[in-house]
Amino acid sequence: MPNETPLLAPARLPSLGLDLPNRLVMAPMTRNRAAADGTPTPLMATYYAQRATAGLLIAEASTPNAVGQTYPDIAAIHRPAHVAGWRQVTDAVHVAGGRMFLQIQHGGRVGHPDNSGHIPLAPSPIPLPDTVFTPKGHQKAVVPREMSVADIRSTVADFAAAARNALEAGFAGVEVHAANGYLLHQFLSSNTNRRHDQYGGTVTGRIRFVREVVAAVADAVGPERVGVRISPYFTGNGMHESDTETLYPALVAALADRGLAYLHLVRADAGLPLFQQLRDAWPGTLIANPALPRDAIPADGGRAAGERLLTAGADLIALGRPILANPDLVDRLRRGAPMNPVRDRYLMYVGGATGYTDYPALSPPAPGGFRRDS
Ligand SMILES: Cc1cc2nc3c(=O)[nH]c(=O)nc-3n(C[C@H](O)[C@H](O)[C@H](O)COP(=O)(O)O)c2cc1C
Repeated sequence: MPNETPLLAPARLPSLGLDLPNRLVMAPMTRNRAAADGTPTPLMATYYAQRATAGLLIAEASTPNAVGQTYPDIAAIHRPAHVAGWRQVTDAVHVAGGRMFLQIQHGGRVGHPDNSGHIPLAPSPIPLPDTVFTPKGHQKAVVPREMSVADIRSTVADFAAAARNALEAGFAGVEVHAANGYLLHQFLSSNTNRRHDQYGGTVTGRIRFVREVVAAVADAVGPERVGVRISPYFTGNGMHESDTETLYPALVAALADRGLAYLHLVRADAGLPLFQQLRDAWPGTLIANPALPRDAIPADGGRAAGERLLTAGADLIALGRPILANPDLVDRLRRGAPMNPVRDRYLMYVGGATGYTDYPALSPPAPGGFRRDS
């Protein structure tokens, strides 16, 4: 029976007492459809409202200050215009019956002066070994400026202010982005953090910045409204962790007793010992984002991979591309319907409605119970 998947069973975010109609979470996805100043656009409201049937939506990485901007046309959350733009998005999602968090991301060394107007900041002056997309095309990454302790303090404060802005914009909570090679991850990993002060060196030193950001954000909006995303073993954006198996247990232990909304694991693999270790160490909600094939989404939309992670102890399942391409993924899973494939990947980051709001939903079942499209 197509509709018996546990992915569609009702769930709850206990920290907030928030009921979720199903266990599907829309993973945060940068789509570069904001205005040049980072203000969310009406098109973004349409895009997210189309996907509001997922149990929880996590809106795309949004920068908490100017220097944290990664790429052109990404969303921001540090000015009144950003709050007003996001308010239109959350209003549209709420009207469509959805619930929404906002991811806050500082790019660290993943940025460029042609995007942000600033030399990027990072724990250590080690450039991204890659190019960065800018309005002039791909350009070699620049050497970032090593953050002083004063820079660290002001960045922590910017995260807290961004979280307050997100609540003012109508989000139920925020996700601190400590994954995928951006600033917080750069502090965690020994290949990007060569500091000799209290923010570097040992695991205790390298997790300090993330702990401080999470503590400040939790103080600003309440721990029950704060999730944290991590990506153990991630090797994109020039990341090479030397001690993943001691780093993440230490980080999770440091965050475990704070009463946070959730921990979110990128490319979670139930077969890895670290998955069970982190599950056992985390007392709250665990969102797992399965490691789906990179070239194309599976024909079942990620159903089997998600079910495996639920069996292994995850509470909620985050999917990215399956929901990007199937705004009505919940309906398709319920009806056992085929999935739209992701179209040209270059449409992911280019702006405009094409490849964004024009993925078709299924037709409603015809009167009398016949399905027109099955
Ligand atoms: C277009 C696109 C944009 C993404 N942007 C973000 C982002 O802003 N923040 C983040 O944490 N991950 C981002 N990711 C990673 C996704 O959240 C997710 O972890 C990844 O796509 C794997 O899940 P999937 O196989 O279900 O797509 C992005 C992925 C895609 C495809």
